[in-house]
Amino acid sequence: MLKDMQGLGVTTDSPDAIAGINRFIDQSLFYGKDAETAILKAIAADPTCALAHAYTAAYYLSQENRIAWQQAQVHLLAAQKNWAKITDREKWYVQAIIAWANKEIDVAITLHEEITNHFPQDLISVQQGQYHYFYLGNKQRLLQIAQKVLTPNLDNHYLYGMVAFGLEQCHQLASAEVIGRKATDLNRYDPWAHHAVAHVMETQGRLEEGIAWMESLAPTWESCNSMLYTHNWWHVALYYLEQNDIEKVLLLYDTYIWGHANKRSPKDQVGAISLLLRLELRGVDVSNRWSELSYYLYHRIHEHALPFQDLHYVYALAKAGFIEWVKQMLWSMQQYALSINPFLRQSWLEVAIPAAKGMVAHAKDDFNTAITTLKPVLPRLHEIGGSHAQLALFKQVYQDAVLLAQKQSHLYSNCQISTHRRKSCFLR
Ligand SMILES: [Fe+2]
Repeated sequence: MLKDMQGLGVTTDSPDAIAGINRFIDQSLFYGKDAETAILKAIAADPTCALAHAYTAAYYLSQENRIAWQQAQVHLLAAQKNWAKITDREKWYVQAIIAWANKEIDVAITLHEEITNHFPQDLISVQQGQYHYFYLGNKQRLLQIAQKVLTPNLDNHYLYGMVAFGLEQCHQLASAEVIGRKATDLNRYDPWAHHAVAHVMETQGRLEEGIAWMESLAPTWESCNSMLYTHNWWHVALYYLEQNDIEKVLLLYDTYIWGHANKRSPKDQVGAISLLLRLELRGVDVSNRWSELSYYLYHRIHEHALPFQDLHYVYALAKAGFIEWVKQMLWSMQQYALSINPFLRQSWLEVAIPAAKGMVAHAKDDFNTAITTLKPVLPRLHEIGGSHAQLALFKQVYQDAVLLAQKQSHLYSNCQISTHRRKSCFLR
């Protein structure tokens, strides 16, 4: 039994395994690009280390794609093979990751809460608890799981970043900014804390400050994974979008967002889709970017990792004109919803699928259908996760549908429908 950098016992006799685990913990909290390499080194040093296998499985599950899910299974089996000799904390953690793999998110959350109650220095469990709460739309619990371990971790800037994001999501903007800035003062290399403050500035409409804050810190993101690298630049792009500096937004998209993305990564894809849609809502011609991106979405059609993400994929496919893929995806979403754990099923059936149909209708310029399908689900969209900034998009799509349906109706009544209908409607 050795201890990791958090002072927690790990069932291994290998210092090299502990070194790999420590590097993995730091890379996970930093959103670094070396997390996978680090944890695989830990396994190479001690293939019997159950916790290292569980961390590896968690890493692959966080990639939210089918191949990574299969990779996770191998490591969960390896973790269970060494079950008899591991500690209670390690058992709870292994069980939490098994529950995640089985989409038993309620079980996973209970276990992360249990771990953090007994071992408050276990910030990987705090981070994973926040991840699950985020995609269940439970902002209060997202904040609480980080706040409850603050006292024993007062010197840990990564925890401040997690608390800051939770505070922002709970509309405690002033406190969120103070804690996010404190994290950054403690260690300038804390991109999640930068991100929390970026959300505050976005919410408060502090566009120039937001640009200055994020661009001054951007050089510290070079060793981030593509998810947070592209997402932090996505936030920068939102500021410029609100300033109507379209040229700059397209430049950021082409260089730091889609240009820098792992093109097969679900989260990178979602950010790019979200930005293209926001540009189009402002009447910008995004050229062939929908089709360039949508070729990479084929593997998403039957995955259904997260309903929030599916709404983006299906919209992009419809915009790119991949109508057969859209049909397949809507059908697949329905089948998937009927097959899953009742804890998640309701939000899939009652929120995600109607919203997906509404998004497709908007993409196909069928604005009346978009209105009738989106309107009833808007008040419940938080149930499928996403930040306030991300969810605002769906409300904008609905409002756009209302506006364009009115214009369509007016144009029809004057017999002036033309192929340039949409462009003429966007002069605003
Ligand atoms: Fe964000």
